Amino acid sequence: MAVSDLNEREAHGAHIPVMTSEVLEIFGERVSDSALFIDATLGAGGHTSELLDKFPRSRVVAFDQDGQARTLAAQKLSRFGDRVRIVGANFRELAALSGEDGWTGADGILFDLGVSSMQLVMADRGFSFQEDGPLDMRMDPDGDGPTAREVLAELNASELAKIFRDYGEERHAWRIAKAIERTAKTGEGLERTMDLVSLIRRILPAPVQRKMGGHPARRVFQALRIAVNSELDALDEGLDGALSAAGSLCVIIAISYHSLEDRMIKRRFLKWAGEGHGNVLTRRPLTPGEEETESNRSSRSAKLRAFITEGTENR
Ligand SMILES: C[S@@+](CC[C@H](N)C(=O)[O-])C[C@H]1O[C@@H](n2cnc3c(N)ncnc32)[C@H](O)[C@@H]1O
Repeated sequence: MAVSDLNEREAHGAHIPVMTSEVLEIFGERVSDSALFIDATLGAGGHTSELLDKFPRSRVVAFDQDGQARTLAAQKLSRFGDRVRIVGANFRELAALSGEDGWTGADGILFDLGVSSMQLVMADRGFSFQEDGPLDMRMDPDGDGPTAREVLAELNASELAKIFRDYGEERHAWRIAKAIERTAKTGEGLERTMDLVSLIRRILPAPVQRKMGGHPARRVFQALRIAVNSELDALDEGLDGALSAAGSLCVIIAISYHSLEDRMIKRRFLKWAGEGHGNVLTRRPLTPGEEETESNRSSRSAKLRAFITEGTENR
């Protein structure tokens, strides 16, 4: 896809960075102007550009597994020259890939999890239940992970129901999973996002759909996306990587949008504190203010937690 195409689309789904003032304040109280940051989730480059502006001699190593996101962010961040280094990789590899000569011992690390608005509005990426597109949902379409279509075709009803329940808290998980399995057996297959939306609408009685609050396919789409991208496994490894890449006084901030992610972050920070790696900075997660949730709906479910390492490098 041409970058001009992307710019056109991005204009309609521009990603607004979430909880920026909280992120800048937490880093600002503890790191110097010449800090080295790792942005584990570059996305549209919103947080990275705020960091480079606010800390005038800082540098950022920024990861994203999505090539389209990297192309756009690179354009947006070009004014910062060699203060930013963009790495095309999953943040599972953060520890191994962030350090190069002169780029080791991070002072600040940021995770802003999930998908960007940009990814959601591009129908051909298959994340949206609002627009027709291929059932893809891979954040890294060049990788060798399965697409959503393949997951739906290959897993049985019990496995699918577990995904919908665990990652989507979908109350009608079993009914939907059974219908998907039946469809797969007929050989008709589910190819497009709207095939899946139509199946869910067909299988759930109208009163049930009315009670669901929100789009009836929302939870299933969220759950599938998390499964397709192994998001919880990536976070599990990414957090460990962050601790290894952290310098002796490093602030690690994680913004999550799903209770399972938030729980994993909370437990990991407490474990690190118990092991003497540093201190939890947020007893309770911070959430966006009313003004932000009103102006940016994507921020509504955000939870921010922060940790500071205090001790030796290369844990
Ligand atoms: C919510 S967006 C980040 C937005 C960014 N903070 C901004 O202000 O523009 C999340 C981004 O992280 C990327 N991402 C999610 N999980 C990832 C992973 N495990 N490894 C690398 N990139 C990941 C997605 O492709 C997406 O572009």
